[in-house]
Amino acid sequence: CNYLVEKSRGDVIDTLVEGLQRLEYRGYDSTGIAIDGDEPDSTVIYKQIGKVSALQKEITAQDPNRDVTFVSHCGIAHTRWATHGEPKQINCHPQRSDRQHDFVIVHNGIITNFRELKQLLLNKGYTFESDTDTECIAKLFKHLYDTNLKNGTELDFHELTKLVLLELEGSYGLLCRSSHYPNEVIATRNGSPLLIGVKSERKLRVDFVDVEFPDDEILPDIPLNSTRQETRNLLPIAANESALRRSQSRAFLSEDGAPNPVEFFVSSDAASVVKHTKKVLFLEDDDIAHIYDGEIHIHRSRREVGAPATRSIQTLEMELAQIMKGPYTHFMQKEIFEQPESTLNTMRGRIDFEQNSVMLGGLKSWLPVIRRARRLIMIACGTSYHSCLATRAIFEELSEIPVSVELASDFLDRKTPVFRDDVCIFVSQSGETADVMLALKYCIERGALTVGIVNSVGSSISRVTHCGVHINAGPEIGVASTKAYTSQYIALVMFALSLSEDRVSMIERRKEIIQGLKDIPGHIKEVLTMEPRIKELCDNELKDQRSLLLLGRGYQFASALEGALKIKEISYMHSEGVLAGELKHGVLALVDEDLPIIAFGTRDSLFPKVVSSIEQVLTRKGRPIVICNKNDDVWSSKATNDKLLTLEVPLTVDCLQGLLNIIPLQLTSYWLAVNKGIDVDFPRNLAKSVTVE
Ligand code: G6P
Repeated sequence: CNYLVEKSRGDVIDTLVEGLQRLEYRGYDSTGIAIDGDEPDSTVIYKQIGKVSALQKEITAQDPNRDVTFVSHCGIAHTRWATHGEPKQINCHPQRSDRQHDFVIVHNGIITNFRELKQLLLNKGYTFESDTDTECIAKLFKHLYDTNLKNGTELDFHELTKLVLLELEGSYGLLCRSSHYPNEVIATRNGSPLLIGVKSERKLRVDFVDVEFPDDEILPDIPLNSTRQETRNLLPIAANESALRRSQSRAFLSEDGAPNPVEFFVSSDAASVVKHTKKVLFLEDDDIAHIYDGEIHIHRSRREVGAPATRSIQTLEMELAQIMKGPYTHFMQKEIFEQPESTLNTMRGRIDFEQNSVMLGGLKSWLPVIRRARRLIMIACGTSYHSCLATRAIFEELSEIPVSVELASDFLDRKTPVFRDDVCIFVSQSGETADVMLALKYCIERGALTVGIVNSVGSSISRVTHCGVHINAGPEIGVASTKAYTSQYIALVMFALSLSEDRVSMIERRKEIIQGLKDIPGHIKEVLTMEPRIKELCDNELKDQRSLLLLGRGYQFASALEGALKIKEISYMHSEGVLAGELKHGVLALVDEDLPIIAFGTRDSLFPKVVSSIEQVLTRKGRPIVICNKNDDVWSSKATNDKLLTLEVPLTVDCLQGLLNIIPLQLTSYWLAVNKGIDVDFPRNLAKSVTVE
């Protein structure tokens, strides 16, 4: 939205399309935008199935007059990952209330009661053109607007939104524009992320509007260029209960109160905003942001005990370069090769390698409570779940507290008992995964202490948890998670080390791990030089295979599962991570001279057992590729005698070996996918950030 900033229609289109391109990794089966048409208060919508480039072509084909200028304008845009309604033109967002585009909506999330709403609206004579749940929202806006108007009430846009939200169940991050409210936009969320970037040449003042404050309440002046620390906690949403009951809002005004030229960028991800501004305000669930006349007014859709009581303008630390591909062909490749640096960034300023100590600022004051926990429950999905599995044993060893590792959906399905003396650790790259978020709310309701291990700064999970650690891996765009895995792994190891800080019996073990961590970035760099050899394997041994087994045990079981997930996600090849100890309980039946098997045979206390499993595979004429330590005699002799292939990685401490062992698998999945011509950063049917259940 621009206010008193002259923009041509071409500028508006380019800004929206480019913003979508930066969000494309989150969903990419269809796209669309809605902007001002040629007639006053009219809306024109462009939609296309496929990626943003297809939308760009469609807009060019429609040949809109790009030179028309607007002094104030609000445009909305969307890139979709289909949940309701297959990816076809009519299901693309924006969805509209009617042919005149009275209300136009883009929506992330799922409206769970949409069937009931649809029936209700059908009964009232509305007709539907799409299979989406979102169309109901647009029609509901229209229905409530028209009904109120008929009764003589012309509602403010945010008041109307409140009425609409009362009817909605499920999750949403939504934007609405309307011909009844030209140059205004509504942004509201519940369970799906939304943030507002603010770009202004002038210093802005944050003011309170229509909120009653006690006399002694001081209204803070917040210049937009203040740092995150300065602004944090300065904006109490309401000073007391009575204020909470009223509609609450904030406006952005220039310091002298004069009209202020300003642009607002509302998005579900900072990646699409950072090019324009680094000043952002994260919306909370049930916030209704009403943007008009160069101001944002935040209202609450309902009163909720314990709702976050502050809003702050944060300064993003993200650089545009971090979300560009640079010299790499794909984001995934870039992110794999960034790992020497990203793992270092996870440890930076947190480990004193001289003193063998670890300091995690976000956990420090909570450690005494965490040490007294009855049990630790790690909860996550996908790759993040594997980072929990990979570090579970070292957590138990160092903390001497039982640790369970849970898939968020299953944890909720089982209605797992959670108690006040449990500590629940939520691991998530995006910090927005719906299942993890629901599990977090579930644990908070039961009084547990919650810890977030998150990559995205300002994400829902990082804000809702009591305390936590940012893994500082930098933005991860590739749908297949790579650098977030290694950084989560290290953050969790550092967490476990913090818990054992005062244990005399652990001094030597801690020292060994901390010194091991010091060498990890260099070791990863060394493993990455194996790329040509891995590419060769993908071109030969693994080419045209339909299935691949990964065999691991102990610390390496997580590597097997994560390796298999990478291969499935990106190359579409069936792949299964198998616990080597379970081999003889079924999986051995699959082994023959054809089925490719990758086995983790690096040194740790379980090494003899792993050797025995691989020997069983060889006996059944299997041809395993073994990931082993450099110059390991056991494997070099087997390589000669049994025609077994090896991939050699440096030796590190047992609990850190998985950080190195996963790299060859990341590269394998990447090259298998590239060889098949798959668009690596956009694997079919998947999305990076799954904000729906
Ligand atoms: C999706 C992604 C995975 C990711 C998982 C959990 O399925 O495709 O790569 O591991 O979500 O995401 P999170 O952001 O919570 O780590």
